[in-house]
Amino acid sequence: MIIAPSLLAANFGRFAHEAARAHRSGAEWLHLDIMDGNFVPNISFGPEVVRAVRPYFKRILDVHLMCSNPEILLEPFARAGANTMTVHAELGADVVTPLLWKIKSLGKGVGLAVNPPTNVAELKPFLDKIDLLLVMTVNPGFGGQVFIEECIPKIQQAAAWKRELGLKYRIEVDGGINETTAVECARVGADTFVAGTALFSKRNLGAAVKRLRHLTQRAAPGI
Ligand code: DX5
Ligand code: ZN
Repeated sequence: MIIAPSLLAANFGRFAHEAARAHRSGAEWLHLDIMDGNFVPNISFGPEVVRAVRPYFKRILDVHLMCSNPEILLEPFARAGANTMTVHAELGADVVTPLLWKIKSLGKGVGLAVNPPTNVAELKPFLDKIDLLLVMTVNPGFGGQVFIEECIPKIQQAAAWKRELGLKYRIEVDGGINETTAVECARVGADTFVAGTALFSKRNLGAAVKRLRHLTQRAAPGI
């Protein structure tokens, strides 16, 4: 299981300190939410923030692009030190196809995300081209929202395709993830857990990460 604290819930005045805290927590990934004020009704941060935190979190930087025009951002984020880059299926198949190739050609992990209102079938044509399938479990834009239970069948479907087709992509969940909802997701096949509020709000981030990992592992011993 991979635990990915989301920097969106960290103290924005202390990014370097918060990234170092995430590193010390033992989290495998640090999740970076990039919002452009157009694809979602909020703005977060850009490549320069990723570059600034790069030296402090020494494992995987997982960049989630909630952006209408990601093609202009892939190279800057790659240069800033991203390890994986995820774009959204809602951009449409014609836009997504070249984006996935571009991420791969930059030598980065290839991610594809699906929002709660979007049919998971939109991901099907891309399954053999991705390393990471991100099921959004809230409508993206803000941290601290309530997990949408109706997204659970999408995780199940992603896990079924993975088994049937013998593929290796990770199944990541993002939004409203806490100790209870993470276990629900792990039971149906999620293996990568993004959590902002539920982790960064804790004084002892290391203990919170460890506990989330333990609970999700126990819920799905096979993974
Ligand atoms: C939502 C973002 C999430 C967000 C999750 O728009 O994609 O990554 O940080 O925050 P929590 O865990 O607080 O729901
Ligand atoms: Zn995210």
